[in-house]
Amino acid sequence: MKTKNHRSSAKYEQLEAGSEKAAPVLHQKAREIQPYGKVTRMPIALNEEVRAHSAENLNQLLADTMTLRDMYKKHHWQVAGHTFYQLHLLFDKHHDEQDELVDAIAERIQLLGAISIAMAADVAEITMIPRPPRGREEVPVQISRLLEAHELILKEARTMAKQAQEAGDDGTNDLLVSDVIRTNELQAWFIAEHVVDVPVVRAAGA
Ligand SMILES: [Fe+2]
Repeated sequence: MKTKNHRSSAKYEQLEAGSEKAAPVLHQKAREIQPYGKVTRMPIALNEEVRAHSAENLNQLLADTMTLRDMYKKHHWQVAGHTFYQLHLLFDKHHDEQDELVDAIAERIQLLGAISIAMAADVAEITMIPRPPRGREEVPVQISRLLEAHELILKEARTMAKQAQEAGDDGTNDLLVSDVIRTNELQAWFIAEHVVDVPVVRAAGA
């Protein structure tokens, strides 16, 4: 005796008959074409050793930049208090600028012939920025975390820029100096001015 399920699966088979060529091929698996950490050939007049070293540096910077970017979004959502609106907007602006850096760093790693890290779990393993709690924190604590993250990134980016320059990797040096360092310095200034303890209404000497 045919059950209702049998009847409906037979009906679907009938509907699908003759349409195999238009069907998407699902559940495909194969070996990776390039393992993480390996550098492929790339005709950009830089030897493999230089490209591998720049990519290794840039992956560390990428993990830290992704973490700072995500911390900006966390603070954008969780900010509280009388400066809510301006900080809500400023944190999101900085998030978007960090996101542009993330893309520029990741694509530079790829063009060097290496593989950029991408997924959050890998970023969490690599980043040197301390993990913030899941809960909500006060504005001065949020800002302290951001400033410390900016300084960590600036310190490593300056070291990496010098190494890239010495190795003749001008493109990496330019990305680090013109984009990463300049953006982080500017953002650190905008954030730091919020934790200067000046009177809001009445001047201190009044
Ligand atoms: Fe938003």
